[in-house]
Amino acid sequence: MIKRKLSDLIVSPDATIHSVVDAIQKSGVRGVFVCDSDRELVGIVMDSDIRRAILKNMDLAVSVKTIMKTSPFIIYEDVPLEGRKALFIETDKMLVPIVNKNNHVVDYIWIHDILEKVSYHQVLGVKDEDGGVIPPQRILVIGGVGYIGSILTEKLLRIGYKVRVLDILLYGKDSLRFLEREGFDFVRGDCRDFETIKQALTDVDAVIHLGEIVGDLACSVNESFTIDTNYSATHMIVEQCIKLQIKRFIFASSCSVYGQSECEVTEDSPLNPCSLYARCKIESEKAILASHYNNFCPTILRLATVHGRSHRQRFDLVVNKLTLDALTNGKIRILGGEQWRPFISVYDICQCIILVLHADKSKIINQIFNVGDTRENYQLLDVGNVIQELIPTIEVVIKDQKKDLRSYMVNFDKIKEQLAFSSEYKVVDSVKDFINAYQTLNMYKDFKDSKYYNVRTLREV
Ligand SMILES: NC(=O)c1ccc[n+]([C@@H]2O[C@H](COP(=O)([O-])OP(=O)(O)OC[C@H]3O[C@@H](n4cnc5c(N)ncnc54)[C@H](O)[C@@H]3O)[C@@H](O)[C@H]2O)c1
Repeated sequence: MIKRKLSDLIVSPDATIHSVVDAIQKSGVRGVFVCDSDRELVGIVMDSDIRRAILKNMDLAVSVKTIMKTSPFIIYEDVPLEGRKALFIETDKMLVPIVNKNNHVVDYIWIHDILEKVSYHQVLGVKDEDGGVIPPQRILVIGGVGYIGSILTEKLLRIGYKVRVLDILLYGKDSLRFLEREGFDFVRGDCRDFETIKQALTDVDAVIHLGEIVGDLACSVNESFTIDTNYSATHMIVEQCIKLQIKRFIFASSCSVYGQSECEVTEDSPLNPCSLYARCKIESEKAILASHYNNFCPTILRLATVHGRSHRQRFDLVVNKLTLDALTNGKIRILGGEQWRPFISVYDICQCIILVLHADKSKIINQIFNVGDTRENYQLLDVGNVIQELIPTIEVVIKDQKKDLRSYMVNFDKIKEQLAFSSEYKVVDSVKDFINAYQTLNMYKDFKDSKYYNVRTLREV
């Protein structure tokens, strides 16, 4: 591999963020060193810093000084080559400057150059038994106590995987059920924290990342916390997977990236996000897809809106919420009603994630899939009608004010054709299941509890 010229990686503190974007694209290395006129290092800027600036709506014409990290991690030139590599691998960095005693950048280490020559296990002196052919055995599910994660964890354990869950337990621990189960282990912690991620990734073969702040409103409660969790942490986790040579990485993105669209959208359609939640998904997708190293095999799943019962129940999702309102209030209110939205059951989502985990690498590497079923696109008014057919006594009220802007009808042919996936359950199945759970099994009588609603819980924190 040709090493890029060091001078291509050096920018002045007065360079605009915009020009740094160009420099990063041209060099192919995902960062630059900011040096003064004497070539003394004053900071470092990675593409992740630029994406954060974009998410914060910063003006890209301002100088790079405003976003650079001052006091970056450095390695001195007198450290011998092997020592440099070991220091590099131990950090959370992907690009590290080598400096002389005057703090002048004389060289650099870039993850790509290291991975081509030596694996993490070799650097640390641990036997590297893999060879790249062992199927994933221990799966890390980040956010595995959540609505999707708690069902997925159960399924993975049932089919014989070892499962480690990393979760910060934002919504309590009622759904943390498998502590006694063989093959299960739990790390309580924050996926934004490098040391926590390092611990959670130990001896893991594949990662399924579901640990985020979920929902447009929930994401607006604390925007900085949202960007840290939903974008920066994802970027950092991907980088650590690459360093540790963990090959499979599945990311739960969302069809909400399509935002508002007049016609049916496919994976190649333009994106039109209407919220910080969707914008973070888009920047995370870009960061993941830019990470093509060696055998790293990331897959992005843009999930339809999920419905159904879970160990961690959510009543802030359209189908679940409207059904609950019908059962508890005899009335459902729909904003607008004409918006299109694709739906999928939580069981089908988990089936699909497992299908991707088992898929031939050539079919899923660096791929984006919409996850759902083309037959399960509904206008919200139709969801109301499905519920009313099962509970005819309810009133369906259409509210025009503050109409929800999001409307997207999604095409799911790609996942059907390439991975033979289609949904087993429909919206009506989940609605029937809720009616039975509430009326016959006497469940969810505490439905007002904040634990069922992401935004309410986060506002109380
Ligand atoms: N539910 C849907 O309709 C839907 C649709 C599209 C995409 N998705 C995506 O699927 C994933 C899972 O969604 P969900 O419905 O299960 O959400 P959820 O809110 O029920 O679960 C998220 C879990 O992540 C954990 N978490 C949050 N921040 C964390 C942090 N900093 N460190 C560690 N754990 C953290 C929470 O404690 C929670 O258990 C998310 O990425 C979401 O964007 C969900």
